[in-house]
Amino acid sequence: MMQPLISIKILYSSSSLTICLFFFFLLADYGRAKIMLPENVTVPAVIAFGDSIVDQGANNNLYTVIKANFPPYGKEFIAGKPTGRFTNNKTPADMIAKELGVKEVLPAYLDPSVDDKELLTGVSFASGGSGYDPQTPLLVAVLSLADQLEQFKEYIAKIKGIVGEDRAQYILANSLFLVVAGSDDLANTYFTIGIRKLQYDIASYADLMVSSASNFIRDIYALGARRIGVFGAPPLGCLPSQRTLGGGVLSMCVEEQNQAAQLYNSKLQPHIEYLNSTLAQSRIVFVDIYDPLLAIIENPLQYGIQVVDKGCCGTGNIEVAILCNHLLPTCDDDSKYLFWDSYHPTDKGYTILINQVIGRYVNYFF
Ligand SMILES: *[C@@H]1O[C@H](CO)[C@@H](O)[C@H](O)[C@H]1NC(C)=O
Ligand SMILES: *[C@@H]1O[C@H](CO)[C@@H](O)[C@H](O)[C@H]1NC(C)=O
Repeated sequence: MMQPLISIKILYSSSSLTICLFFFFLLADYGRAKIMLPENVTVPAVIAFGDSIVDQGANNNLYTVIKANFPPYGKEFIAGKPTGRFTNNKTPADMIAKELGVKEVLPAYLDPSVDDKELLTGVSFASGGSGYDPQTPLLVAVLSLADQLEQFKEYIAKIKGIVGEDRAQYILANSLFLVVAGSDDLANTYFTIGIRKLQYDIASYADLMVSSASNFIRDIYALGARRIGVFGAPPLGCLPSQRTLGGGVLSMCVEEQNQAAQLYNSKLQPHIEYLNSTLAQSRIVFVDIYDPLLAIIENPLQYGIQVVDKGCCGTGNIEVAILCNHLLPTCDDDSKYLFWDSYHPTDKGYTILINQVIGRYVNYFF
């Protein structure tokens, strides 16, 4: 990316046609599918569990403050429609479904418009604010992983009803499952609200999270899932909300929270490798998002980003979910921001992240 940034200055003094061509190539690069699946591999469905990173609208009808089904959320989504996705456009679940050639957008299981065809190509059970610690969803009245598992069982019964037992098992065994949780356990339950800090040091809390993650993965494996991507924790201390709450007058990254995320990741990763090697026919992969996000935060200009310490919504310091609403202004150009609200990346941020994730991990699954 450094090269084009330099050449834009040269082009700018040249003709406007050259500038147009430059932007054409820039856009062409971002729009290109980054993956090549092995020959004859098709992915029937993408199925997601977890928290707001892959919540596609599960919280819309829950009595909770963790919602995003109102403007300015969805500002760049199809028809500018807020859907409950916690960003301005698509989530990583949508992006991955599209890159794998499954479909353009992954609906929430609870979306009333989901029909048979949508069920067979995958849905998300994820609920913003949820986590591995059973306390985490309880604190904000959202769906726990146990709730999501119950809905997944209901889903399996439905697809068996549509295509029969054998084809349903085939779909489960060949689809990509995403399990994205842990951020809210650490950032909210442990640090911000702090109830778990009274009972656990960070190492034993990370053990609790890994143990719960392990049980969840074994549960979906027992129901037929085989290809499972388990996301690690991001650099939580650098989320704008955490900077505001704990980063002092300069809103620095909160080192203690970044270290907690790294400690948790360092416990989760070997456990995922252990599950991958012990559960027959499985491809269970730890997906690191810590390093790629921190790289953007440390060198934003290399990625065409200018603002990494604030979100685009409102002041950008604290607004998230119902606090990020239509009463607030948004930034002029969200493609220059890594974060949309004080907690979730923009479309630009997620696009950079997910392109890297897919490029790095896709071959482990197929
Ligand atoms: C892919 O499918 C075609 C047609 O069924 C077959 O001829 C070919 O051998 C397959 N390739 C691989 C690598 O399995
Ligand atoms: C998962 O296990 C398989 C063997 O069952 C192995 O080939 C593969 O490399 C493992 N994947 C990871 C990410 O460790």
